[in-house]
Amino acid sequence: MSELTPTEKEANLKFLKEIFFDWPNYENIVYVDPGIEDCIMAYDGDKLVGHVVITRRVVEHNGKVFQVGGTGDLAVAKDYRKIGIGKILDQKCKEILKANNFDLGLAFCHPEVEKHHLANGWIKKEKGIIWATIGGVKEKQNIAIFWPIKLSDEEIKWWNNDEIDIGVGSW
Ligand SMILES: CC(C)(COP(=O)(O)OP(=O)(O)OC[C@H]1O[C@@H](n2cnc3c(N)ncnc32)[C@H](O)[C@@H]1OP(=O)(O)O)[C@@H](O)C(=O)NCCC(=O)NCCS
Repeated sequence: MSELTPTEKEANLKFLKEIFFDWPNYENIVYVDPGIEDCIMAYDGDKLVGHVVITRRVVEHNGKVFQVGGTGDLAVAKDYRKIGIGKILDQKCKEILKANNFDLGLAFCHPEVEKHHLANGWIKKEKGIIWATIGGVKEKQNIAIFWPIKLSDEEIKWWNNDEIDIGVGSW
């Protein structure tokens, strides 16, 4: 993330604000988390057409510390959707999560994009609630999906069933 040039950062923010224009308070929570580790961008020539970030949260649950890789701000330009760019961003994310000592990937999604994630191998949390404090507000995440990397079968059950508070961050 620190390797982004100011021009790239500005272009990314413009792109994201256009896509998430109807998300209240979005401009105050995007790109503010010190835990942001990686930013993946897709281009058509010079044109930015896809984006996703990975944010780290260290979460303790049932006495075990998990390195959680949150994927957020996933967006593909309107004219470039449904040709597989979202899938490629997802694959890159997984490569980065695997290579950087994360125990699991975690994302919160809107109902309309749930199918996209499940088609790419994410697991939908069926029971229990994930709480995340974002922008000073503790929110219940209605749709949480996860991708196990270094979880035992027992830990997969925890992430699938338990109420888990992942603490404070912008994602
Ligand atoms: C969610 C989002 C990132 C998906 O990006 P995308 O690039 O369209 O994703 P993909 O192309 O990989 O897959 C989308 C669909 O196109 C289909 N598709 C992919 N390549 C295709 C091809 N060559 N021909 C026909 N269909 C294709 C996929 O099978 C998938 O189908 P489905 O909707 O029936 O599951 C995009 O819709 C988006 O930016 N939405 C707005 C922002 C948003 O809501 N972000 C998520 C916040 S939680």
